Amino acid sequence: MPRLQIIIASTRPGRVGLPVGRWFEGRARAHGGFDVEVVDLAELGLPFVDEPNHPRLRQYTQEHTKQWSAKVDAADAFAFVMPEYNYGFNAPLKNAIDFLHQEWQYKPVGFVSYGGISAGTRAVQMIKQVVTTLNMFALNEAVSIPFVAQFIDDEGEIDANETMEKAADALLAGLLRMSGALAGLRSE
Ligand SMILES: Cc1cc2nc3c(=O)[nH]c(=O)nc-3n(C[C@H](O)[C@H](O)[C@H](O)COP(=O)(O)O)c2cc1C
Repeated sequence: MPRLQIIIASTRPGRVGLPVGRWFEGRARAHGGFDVEVVDLAELGLPFVDEPNHPRLRQYTQEHTKQWSAKVDAADAFAFVMPEYNYGFNAPLKNAIDFLHQEWQYKPVGFVSYGGISAGTRAVQMIKQVVTTLNMFALNEAVSIPFVAQFIDDEGEIDANETMEKAADALLAGLLRMSGALAGLRSE
């Protein structure tokens, strides 16, 4: 089974990203087509990029970079669970992306974004130019959650509506399809 890595991008204490990520993880496991792994950037705790060489050379000097490289290398598809900060995507996600190069190539990425009225869509538009530079395939199918606070229940979990559930399933179907389609390019 292809490995889907769900990357929780927000590192803030009290972040909404964690319950959103947990909800999407549940949906991904129920889908059944992936070996699902959650990567929480807050837990990963990467520093600002501290490598002397361009990542395409893969001459990593830091243990945390080697571990991050191995993790991303093992993934076949990604879902970025991401907030919108100041009309853009958040800095820890950009930093985590910039650490690596080949590890991202020819892999599909889907976006589960959230925010206020924009549902994080401005952040998604912004990140598309970054991921396509790395030859990732950015799916058009997406989960876009507007006014995300309204979906948080008394236990602090996401109480999703039908629109969100259908969007998540469409995104997972797209990721599975593209992961298979791009597999040949990854093995070259
Ligand atoms: C620094 C900062 C900037 C924000 N900028 C935006 C924004 O541009 N658009 C938006 O819809 N929400 C914005 N918000 C509100 C966030 O969508 C909301 O706080 C959300 O919970 C952040 O995700 P997180 O809790 O997972 O970190 C911003 C929040 C923060 C902390």
